[in-house]
Amino acid sequence: METLGFFPFDSPSTSSGSLRVRMTFMKILAIGDIFGQPGREAIAALLPKIIAEHNIDFVIANAENAAGGRGLTPKVADELLSYPIDVMTAGNHIWEHDALHPYFDIHPILRPINVIERLPGRGWLTKSKKGLNVAVVCLQGQIFMEDKGPAVSNPFRMMEAVLPEMKQKSDLVIVDFHAEATSEKRALAWFLDGKITGLFGTHTHVQTADAEIMPGGTAYISDLGMTGPHASVIGLEADTAIKRFLTGERKHFKVAKDDVRLEGVIIDIDEKTRRPTSIERLQIKHSPPL
Ligand SMILES: [Fe+2]
Ligand SMILES: [Fe+2]
Repeated sequence: METLGFFPFDSPSTSSGSLRVRMTFMKILAIGDIFGQPGREAIAALLPKIIAEHNIDFVIANAENAAGGRGLTPKVADELLSYPIDVMTAGNHIWEHDALHPYFDIHPILRPINVIERLPGRGWLTKSKKGLNVAVVCLQGQIFMEDKGPAVSNPFRMMEAVLPEMKQKSDLVIVDFHAEATSEKRALAWFLDGKITGLFGTHTHVQTADAEIMPGGTAYISDLGMTGPHASVIGLEADTAIKRFLTGERKHFKVAKDDVRLEGVIIDIDEKTRRPTSIERLQIKHSPPL
């Protein structure tokens, strides 16, 4: 397992070694958009090793691009559900395959909570691990997302409306904010700082270098990155992407193959205070056997 990047950010108040010895942690791994077959192969090969190496308790993975780079099918969902993933989040691409809709009711697969239309599925759920109820939320942004799937309502107001119920039913609240603009993501992080456990961005497929514990105590990163082929344009073969920009033609879609990586973050949460103490960025290369 070749680690390309491992960037810890410790909360200044809890980084003392002696203090850490007395603390027990809930460790949450959040995985950036799984892109096509290369992404799924990286999950199959690397996820068990990461869980063992970092003592991970809870896994959240964004699966909106898991089937051929666009959406999620029942077959691909079944494959991902065979791995130790607790909750799958999604985004604009989750509406590609209608056949997935029955899965929303029977599996831990979320669609954006703030879609305006009455559409199948749910936008948040809770799952219990190590005696803690973890609420996971899938939320979509509005900025530059107008032509990307069904319209969504204001994510700030949506969180304001649903947070009291989430906090009543859970000990930790983790939000996957699926959005294009870093401004919208960072503004939401400040809006929710101290009110939720963690907020991570997805959708841009490029990991940002701003992982931090915010002043109010919320763990944050603007984008987790992508679990898939990085010799690409956000997962798409570069030639295909260039052609799209030159001609406007969007018919062809080819998943790239090379430089496959798993990207995401690990958030450590003090089980006693239920507050995050560190957030670490992960970039791990997947080298398939020759
Ligand atoms: Fe995506
Ligand atoms: Fe997306």
